[in-house]
Amino acid sequence: MRLLVTGGAGFIGSHLVRRLIQSGSHSVVNLDALKYSGNLENLADLAGHPQYAFVHADIGDQPVVHTILQEHRIEGIINCAAETHVDRSILDPGAFARTDVVGTGILLEEARRAGVRRFLQVSTDEVYGSVEQGSSTENDRLEPRSPYSASKAGGDLLVLSYWTTYQFPVLVTRGSNTYGPNQYPEKFIPLFATNAIDGEPLPLYGDGKQCRDWLSVHDHVAGIQHVFEQGQLGTVYNVGGGNERENITVAEQIVGTLGKSRSLIRLVQDRPGHDRRYSIDCSRLRALGWSPQVPFEEGLKETVEWYRTHESWWRTIKSGEFKAYYQQQYAKRLQQGTACGS
Ligand code: TYD
Repeated sequence: MRLLVTGGAGFIGSHLVRRLIQSGSHSVVNLDALKYSGNLENLADLAGHPQYAFVHADIGDQPVVHTILQEHRIEGIINCAAETHVDRSILDPGAFARTDVVGTGILLEEARRAGVRRFLQVSTDEVYGSVEQGSSTENDRLEPRSPYSASKAGGDLLVLSYWTTYQFPVLVTRGSNTYGPNQYPEKFIPLFATNAIDGEPLPLYGDGKQCRDWLSVHDHVAGIQHVFEQGQLGTVYNVGGGNERENITVAEQIVGTLGKSRSLIRLVQDRPGHDRRYSIDCSRLRALGWSPQVPFEEGLKETVEWYRTHESWWRTIKSGEFKAYYQQQYAKRLQQGTACGS
């Protein structure tokens, strides 16, 4: 198929583009706005590949999206373009509504008008909200609690409404917390790994006992491709790693892997509205023949090792826009933080 992958210069998007092309059954146009976390270096190995093209554009730019769908005769779309960081959504919620709801709506409508044959919306388990007990199934109520997850839930519902209203062929995946190489270092695992490499403190929110289900990016993009090719139209699929860990445990594993001191971990002021736990039931996708392959401890070690051996990739990021964000988000917290275990 001739595919459009949006957000293909980002973390999950770049791994997905590479996987789709290497699978040999698709050509890919990567549409990316190259906002702060989009980085073409993530796909430098594909430059000049005959099945790959890059277009610099925003999913919310209707005339441009219209032209690209026509010019490239796009048959399928996988929408990875999104604002994704919960902490940033607390600082600037409007950007999340614009891209994750309005942008998704514009892309979706242009896709429908162009007669696209399959549209997959990449979403998140955060739309279910905090799950104190048990695991969320795809039929559970959406109870998003941050501007990020609320925006993603809005995008999901818009996409699903196109199935009900127009029988437009949509699919939705809801992935759990994803980790791996090339993740922008604002997120928990790459932030802690890169800070630890530099001997900087690791700002652990609240009591550090929040729980996330960690999913290797390799398993995540395999799940997305599986749903895109074999999923039942109009259906939502949870994609989880089955690796529920408390944040404190992951922080300790990161410092342990790097041979650094546990005293780098600082307990700092919690995130407002911090979801305590996410957990998803993935039996629907497992029944379709997908299962995660990467054991968490192995995947985490490989990821930490990737950051250790790719310093120039993240040092460029951390010395740019990121600095001001880090200052705003962490300076006061770290001043007031306490050593873990004290
Ligand atoms: P994050 O990577 O931001 O993903 P999400 O909030 O979407 O789950 O955070 C993962 C967990 O790590 C979450 O419980 C918040 C916590 N966390 C910290 O304790 N400190 C930090 O500096 C960050 C970025 C996250």
